[in-house]
Amino acid sequence: MKALIVYDSVYGNTEKIAKAIAGAIDAGARALRAGDVNPSELKTFDLLIVGSPTQGGRPTPAIREFLSNIPRASLKGIDVAAFDTRFSTKLVRVFGYAAERIAGTLKGKGGNLIAPPEAFFVEGAKGPLREGELERAAAWAQGIVKSRK
Ligand SMILES: Cc1cc2nc3c(=O)[nH]c(=O)nc-3n(C[C@H](O)[C@H](O)[C@H](O)COP(=O)(O)O)c2cc1C
Repeated sequence: MKALIVYDSVYGNTEKIAKAIAGAIDAGARALRAGDVNPSELKTFDLLIVGSPTQGGRPTPAIREFLSNIPRASLKGIDVAAFDTRFSTKLVRVFGYAAERIAGTLKGKGGNLIAPPEAFFVEGAKGPLREGELERAAAWAQGIVKSRK
């Protein structure tokens, strides 16, 4: 299986999650920053996972640009999943979250959404990640791999 994890990260927390996910999939899985990926080359992957910090209820500009540059219908036949990092407070719930929006776009481009959007929690805007989140990310990724078999 060829897996790619595309992420953005301002303070490093989402990057840590992306790397934990890649590490849990297989040795060939790569985690790349959105700016380092050519959206027209996604066709070569079997599994695409996209993750972003939630900022103002949305993915970051780099992830939004990456998503909008994915050619229409080009994710047909590719399994896709989305995650974000976010606060756990109820206050920000009204704005929505990045993962749901990412998942919707990936699906809209033809991807086969293989898991519900997932959230990983930070203690503050700059982090750190809540305890146990790296392990939970690895388990989430392993669940996705299993569901593909
Ligand atoms: C400008 C800004 C806006 C944010 N907006 C939200 C938000 O709407 N909802 C939320 O849950 N967290 C919000 N956060 C917290 C971020 O999700 C948190 O900074 C992020 O998970 C850290 O990931 P990173 O280290 O990869 O950048 C915001 C943070 C910043 C800096």
